[in-house]
Amino acid sequence: MLDRLDTTLRVRGGVRLEGSTSTHGAKNAALPIMAAALLAKGPVTLHRVPRITDVSVMWSLLESLGARLRYEGENTVTIDSSNVASFRAPYALVRKLAASFDVVGPLLGRFGRAEVALPGGCVLGTRATDLHEQAFIALGCDVRNQHGYLIAESKHARLHGADIEFRMPSVGATKNAMLAAVTANGTTTLRNVAMEPEVIDLANFLTAMGAKIAGLGTDTIVIDGVAELHGVEYEIIPDRIVTGTLLFCGVVTRGDVTIRRCVPAHVRSVLEKLTECGIEVTTGTDWIRVNAGAITGGTEILTAPYPGFPTDLQPQAVAFLCTAPGTSVVEESIFNARFSYVNELARMGADVRVSMESNTAVVKGVAQLSGAPVEAPDIRAGAALVVAGLAAHGETEIIGLEYIDRGYERLEEMLSDLGGQVQRSVGVTQLVEASGLFETTAYPRVSPASG
Ligand code: EPU
Repeated sequence: MLDRLDTTLRVRGGVRLEGSTSTHGAKNAALPIMAAALLAKGPVTLHRVPRITDVSVMWSLLESLGARLRYEGENTVTIDSSNVASFRAPYALVRKLAASFDVVGPLLGRFGRAEVALPGGCVLGTRATDLHEQAFIALGCDVRNQHGYLIAESKHARLHGADIEFRMPSVGATKNAMLAAVTANGTTTLRNVAMEPEVIDLANFLTAMGAKIAGLGTDTIVIDGVAELHGVEYEIIPDRIVTGTLLFCGVVTRGDVTIRRCVPAHVRSVLEKLTECGIEVTTGTDWIRVNAGAITGGTEILTAPYPGFPTDLQPQAVAFLCTAPGTSVVEESIFNARFSYVNELARMGADVRVSMESNTAVVKGVAQLSGAPVEAPDIRAGAALVVAGLAAHGETEIIGLEYIDRGYERLEEMLSDLGGQVQRSVGVTQLVEASGLFETTAYPRVSPASG
């Protein structure tokens, strides 16, 4: 007999959410900003760093390179990179976090060399790196793939500025090119860049460290390389994907919720879709209120680079649309395998048909979802199962809470602020081998809220 430890989230559905809660700092800004601290001559202090496991992995990676990190408060971290001596990011860490690849640019800026395990694929689809490599080569590096590692090496003492046009906007490649170019010799022009708020936050952080970056918010960024960057104190932007997830949690229960400490402009495309479904949306400088008393119908969504509808909210949107009257159509244009979770939604009674050829889901609203045991295949799909569970009749047990914890800081507490009945638990699953198959029996045990 084998034992396996599963962390699960138990969601009691059918409770209308009301009240307010706050968004935490953005994962996808915190990760590259932590990596960028490798370039600072002095200590960096970061505020509003989310307590999530992806941050812990980046923390371990920076420590493995020689940096010293310390919590100064619940969400404040100092990073001292003065003793960084290694330029190799091992597979053991990169395989846990594709964003580990963000260290390539800073390592090139600092050492003129980087050896970083290739991220390969993930559950969402291919994680290609050709655009990153295009940038490193243009900036003066030799780049090769050796034994699963990308080895990039500057041909000169310093990288040199270059004019780089990307065939498509990539968040990761834009960040890495920017990180490598800020201390290069001369001017770098990056064309067709990603304009995601997290990319801009990274640029603002680099600028606060002394970098010279122009054109932010447009599709062309111009960087004048500087010899060195200094330490700084900086606050990470609010997480727009957490904001959007909480909005979907509220509206799926036909609730009336206010999300505070967020940037409404960062989720404009989402608010437009909610309005199309008949939901009342009001915004202030740093809050959004949604009142979903009456949902008039579904909508059509196409995921796209910012300011388009974010792919990271596609699963949560589908989960909500499963409960909206009529038929909705959701097309995924960023990742080639981001609909795997719909099989779990189907176990809850959802009616979603996916066409692999067009990467499109046709969602027919059903009168009632029903709670079921389901498994989260990744962060955002896990969040989508929470959205569905909140609307379902009965209890939904989501196995794979560790995925949700990668991107959400204590999601159950944010939901309980809104009256949601969501509980974290750890269960020992006994795997009993019987006729070649495994039978599973779970014995849940409630863990401390902070888990
Ligand atoms: N791509 C290439 N070549 C490249 C780079 C990317 O073809 O050199 C392709 C990828 O294969 C993928 C698409 O372009 O199909 C998007 O990749 P992109 O580089 O834009 O995304 P990323 O940097 O890998 C970040 C976020 C993702 C988010 C995407 C899109 C971080 C740490 N990750 O990934 O966030 O979905 O941008 O907005 O910032 C999440 O938080 O759950 C998450 C997956």
